Parts: sequence; C-alpha cells; structure tokens
Amino acid sequence: MQQNIFEKEFAKETVFKDRNLVTPHYTPPILPFRERQIKEMGEILSFSLKGKKTDNLFLYGKTGTGKTSVAKHVVQQLLDFSVKQNLNVEGCYVNCRNHNSKYRVLIKIVKDLYPEENFLGFSAAFVYEKLLDYARKGKEFVVVLDEVDKVKDLDELIYSLTRGNDELDKGSVSIIGISNNLMFKDRLDPRTKSSLCEQEMVFPPYNAEELREILKQRAEMAFKSRCVQSSAINLAAALAAQESGDARTAVMLLLRAGEICDKKGSDKVTDEEVKRAKSKVEEEIILSMISTLPKQQQFVLYTISSLTLQKKGVTRITGEKEEGVLFSGEIYEEYQRIAKSHHSDIISSRWYRQYISELEMYGLIFTTASGKGIRGQTRLIKLGFDAKKIREILGKEIAN
Ligand SMILES: Nc1ncnc2c1ncn2[C@@H]1O[C@H](COP(=O)(O)OP(=O)(O)O)[C@@H](O)[C@H]1O
Ligand SMILES: [Mg+2]
Repeated sequence: MQQNIFEKEFAKETVFKDRNLVTPHYTPPILPFRERQIKEMGEILSFSLKGKKTDNLFLYGKTGTGKTSVAKHVVQQLLDFSVKQNLNVEGCYVNCRNHNSKYRVLIKIVKDLYPEENFLGFSAAFVYEKLLDYARKGKEFVVVLDEVDKVKDLDELIYSLTRGNDELDKGSVSIIGISNNLMFKDRLDPRTKSSLCEQEMVFPPYNAEELREILKQRAEMAFKSRCVQSSAINLAAALAAQESGDARTAVMLLLRAGEICDKKGSDKVTDEEVKRAKSKVEEEIILSMISTLPKQQQFVLYTISSLTLQKKGVTRITGEKEEGVLFSGEIYEEYQRIAKSHHSDIISSRWYRQYISELEMYGLIFTTASGKGIRGQTRLIKLGFDAKKIREILGKEIAN
C-alpha cells in the first residue's frame, strides 16, 4: 500500500516543543525588563476604570524593543479587569501597517465593535458616528494605533478621534499611538502632536545581557529540554545586541536556527545553526522594513541602491578612493528623475534630508560629513546592505 505523503513529515523529529512560541506573532505573557513601562502605562490607563478619559499616549522606540508586546499585554489586562469588575472599558487594537488610512482604521474599529454588521462602502462620517454611538453608552474606549506613522491622513484621523470627545457627554475615546520611528513625532502637525503625545514613553533597545535572559526564557518554553546549547543562546543575544538591541531579531534567530536543525535531522541548536540563521534573518527583517517604508522613502532608497551599483564611489582630492560612497546632492538629483519617471510627487530638499536621517536611523544607510579632500560641505552616504538585493526588492515595490 502506498504511504500517505504526510506520514513521514508528521513523524519527523523536531527540536521544538511548541514552535509557535518563537514566531513573531506570539505575544509573551511575561515581559522582563519592561516592568517600568508596564507600570507607567497601567497607571495612565487606570483612569478609564474610574469612568474618566485617559490621556492619549505615544510609545516610541526602535523595532523589537517590546512596544507592541507591552501595549497588547497592558490593554488585555485592562479589559480582563474591566470585565471581571463589570466596568465600562472597551479597547481595540489596530495595526496601521494593514489599515493605513483614516477610513480603514475607522472601519476596522467599528468592525470590532459590531462584529455582526458590515460597514464597507459606508461614508467615513457614518462609520465615525457608529463609533461615537458606542462610546455614548458610557464606554471608555481605548484605541491602540500600532505603527501609527503608516496612516496616510493621520492628521485627519487624530483630529476625528479626539474631537469625538467634545461631542460626548458620557464615555470617551483615547488613543495609544505606537511608532518605530524615533523622529516621527517631529514630523507631525503641531496640533496632531499635542493631541497624540499628551503622554510619552520611550522604549530603549535591549542590551546583550537582557536579550540573553529573554532568549533563555523563550527557549525553555518553545524547545524541548536540552535542545538548545547555552552558547547558542549567548551568540544569538550578542548578534542581536550588536545589530540593534532588537528582541525580534533575537527570537527569529532562535526560530530559524531550530528549523535548520530539524531540516538536517540534528537534535541540538548550536552556534553553527545560529550563524547560519543570521543572514536569513537579516534578510527577512530588511525585507519587511523596506517594503513598508513610505513611497517617497522607497524612491530615495531605490535611488541610493541604483547609484551604488552604477558608480565607482568617490575620489578625494588626495586621490584616495572610497567605494560605495555617494554624495547627498547627486542622490537628490537622481531621485527627482526617478520619481518623475514614475509620475510621482517630488519632495523638497528639506524633506529629503529628513528622509535621509530616518533611513540612517533604521540602519539602512550610513552617513558622514564629507571631511577632508572633498570640495565644499556635503554629506556622504553609504548603503548599509547589499545594493543589488535592495534594488531588486524596491524595484518591485515602486512599480505598483
Ligand atoms: N521584554 C520582552 N520579553 C520577552 N520577549 C520580548 C520582550 N520584548 C520583546 N520581545 C519579543 O520580541 C518580539 C518583538 O517585540 P515587539 O513588542 O513586537 O517590539 P516592537 O513593537 O517594539 O517592534 C516580540 O514578538 C516578543 O517575542
Ligand atoms: Mg511593534
């Protein structure tokens, strides 16, 4: 008799006890090194339990510093407590990466509030009224807007959500905004900024020691006992700390290292698998980062990768050569040409400089002042990752 094709897959040995617990979708219930943030956020939100509107709150910090996990954890606790005590707090989590306009965010919120109804196609004004109707029942309503910088018409969204409170006698709407972009706040319209950032919390990167502890706990939950060498955990923590102090990178290293083990039928995650997992994880993370950059930033980065491939670098007056280095000005010129050829708007040079700073903050590029041997004052720019790969990914992105 022929064997079912899944028989073999199913019977395969694995190092994982529960692989889910090391995937990026999982929110751990215990978040070491974030006790202070959890406490502060809890204090701010606790006003809602007393029937008051809580201050809007803005959380920011680099990717993988625990913002999403902390926000989900605290809001879940708040809602659990409210139910248990029969109180009137309601909450909703929106990832603005997937819901990236005012209309889409509003639709997502009312869909959560009225799961049995369908609002697609209704006007923004109508949907918004539905939301207020809900609050009017005396609900203190907390909306988490994760990756809030992805909302195209953010000023209008924040304005609507906050204005709602003036129209309510009972109940309230408060916002928790989250962003991975440390400079995003400075970009906001002053009115939006003062509404959204009534309270602020910064999430610092984790150091190697903290990442090691986080990984140790996670490995115990997700892997079978004695399947992960402690030196492998140390290495994953060190690599992630070196890059950016990003817990997501650290956890992903463990996940991919475990998969490599399973694939080759080995029963222990060692340094070897972590090293092999590194380039894979790096690639995945860059991919997800650049594919969600705003369009204009994608144009700028695309320009940098394409010029890097075309040019031979800069030569200083001293004759010294530097490969892969570009002048800020030449990028801006080429950017304008590329954006125009895609029938896109063109950002001013002031915005261009802002975008360059943000790309640097994400670690996608490095910049230095031109210094000796180059005429005039200019910034030199160098790509942080493989130019070919970035151009390939972005070529597809900007085409649609
Ligand atoms: N303090 C922590 N303890 C345990 N795991 C953490 C902690 N902070 C982050 N993580 C892990 O890292 C991943 C990324 O965290 P996340 O909250 O999504 O970061 P951010 O939203 O700041 O990018 C999460 O999936 C979680 O598994
Ligand atoms: Mg997040």
